[in-house]
Amino acid sequence: MTTDKTAAAHGAVLKDTPPEGGGPLVELRGAGKSYGNIRALHGVDLAVHSGRVTCVLGDNGAGKSTLIKIISGLHQHTEGEFLVDGEPVRFTTPREALDRGIAAVYQDLATVPLMPVWRNFFLGSELTKGPWPVRRLDIARMKRTADEELRAMGIVLDDLEQPIGTLSGGQRQCVAIARAVHFGARVLILDEPTAALGVKQSGVVLKYIAAARDRGLGVIFITHNPHHAYMVGDHFTVLRLGTLEMSAARSEVSLEELTNHMAGGAELAALKHELSQVRGVDVEELPEADDLSAPLPASSEGNS
Ligand SMILES: Nc1ncnc2c1ncn2[C@@H]1O[C@H](COP(=O)(O)OP(=O)(O)OP(=O)(O)O)[C@@H](O)[C@H]1O
Ligand SMILES: [Mg+2]
Repeated sequence: MTTDKTAAAHGAVLKDTPPEGGGPLVELRGAGKSYGNIRALHGVDLAVHSGRVTCVLGDNGAGKSTLIKIISGLHQHTEGEFLVDGEPVRFTTPREALDRGIAAVYQDLATVPLMPVWRNFFLGSELTKGPWPVRRLDIARMKRTADEELRAMGIVLDDLEQPIGTLSGGQRQCVAIARAVHFGARVLILDEPTAALGVKQSGVVLKYIAAARDRGLGVIFITHNPHHAYMVGDHFTVLRLGTLEMSAARSEVSLEELTNHMAGGAELAALKHELSQVRGVDVEELPEADDLSAPLPASSEGNS
């Protein structure tokens, strides 16, 4: 399958068994969240392991952002359990999550467009030198470190002096990933990093997701796109209307099955019927309801 080839080209080593020893870095057990009387998320299980990419898929409003807001300390769960290194936690600020090595990269990255790349890399955590009261920014060391860290992730920029605003969206995502790795993230959360990107730029971001994974981080990759997920994912969690629609390891699910789960088999068949009434819409390639494979159980029980 071409997607597997692409993953191999990225140097990806895809595994579907949890690593030996060491339990999950982050785990949700039957977790849920209500905003007042709106139940955004209910009964979700998720485990994030070191050196693995856990993909969270789902349509608009499925609860993906709510899920990662719990893990990154922006919101608190209202049901179930949230564990870090096997210990139940309840973060009240993103700072607490960060202190436990959980870093989130959002789409609207918190960068200052007119500042150079190296300056953005250290934003809020600037390196200084000299004794107080004459402490100064250690510009040389910041430039050198940013350069080393970006290169270590395989990101080569011509000039770290260029304003970060002149980089493409994909490159900015990559700088944010390298930054999180440098500042000691063990768990990296990426909320739809490829949503606004073209094919080539998405490929670049997927490559750095694989690089972060290869450096031993546990990655949570949120996406609408089953193709992107399948290129780097070790485990797939599909949310639907705030609940777990599917949770399967890579060996248990094909790209086609994943796509069908994402689209919602029955809904897709209904859509096909509806679209077939419209002139000039080709529905031939859409599956019929009975062509769709039986839904996978919402557990990691294999069907392979
Ligand atoms: N702060 C909030 N207050 C009330 N309801 C909310 C809040 N945040 C999210 N919701 C509701 O929770 C549900 C899940 O939303 P969430 O943002 O987690 O979905 P999502 O999967 O990230 O969607 P998208 O793909 O559009 O980003 C939605 O019905 C949404 O309206
Ligand atoms: Mg969202």
